[in-house]
Amino acid sequence: MKMNPKNKKEKGELMKEILDEIWNGKDLPLYEERIKNKAYPVIGEGSHDAKIMFIGEAPGKNEAKTGRPFCGAAGKILDGLLESVGLNREDVYITNIVKDRPPQNRDPLPDEITSYAPFLDRQIDIVKPRVIAALGRYSMTYILEKFNLWEEIQPISKIHGKIFDVKVSFGSVKIIPLYHPAASIYNRTTLDDLKKDFKILKKIVS
Ligand code: URA
Repeated sequence: MKMNPKNKKEKGELMKEILDEIWNGKDLPLYEERIKNKAYPVIGEGSHDAKIMFIGEAPGKNEAKTGRPFCGAAGKILDGLLESVGLNREDVYITNIVKDRPPQNRDPLPDEITSYAPFLDRQIDIVKPRVIAALGRYSMTYILEKFNLWEEIQPISKIHGKIFDVKVSFGSVKIIPLYHPAASIYNRTTLDDLKKDFKILKKIVS
């Protein structure tokens, strides 16, 4: 598809607004923690016109240090999986539900998800992906709830690699829950499942 430079600039501006709001978001539940640790918020990275949007959970230590999503051990796995199907980071958009690092990498709290998710919702509307790949159970649950697929929510072990079609304001979107790459660090079977699911992912965008 031919890129419209005007459209592209608008998307960049809209993303910048989100970045500024989070950067200055003194009311956000993890703002104080970020300042205390001299950490960065992690907004997201990749093409604003991506067909695939990957949504993780929250930044970890490396991400909060650099401001970049998935740049630690889980990120290496994600890069390998992308490469295995002929994609790279520039082709996709990668972000998280929660944009600041929870202390000690603990699971995000419901209140943190509620506070940060509106930024993710706006990012989805900006990028307008054709496929949303939800990485891990928090992301999967948030996305399935957001698109009113409550009755489809099951353990990720049951529905990873399954495709859910939804109609949204900008067209049709396919949702695919995937294991979180970090879950495959010490689990070969999970990595094999992820590899298979990435093939499905590639097929649905081709
Ligand atoms: N895990 C996530 O969910 N997101 C990141 O950005 C890094 C690790």
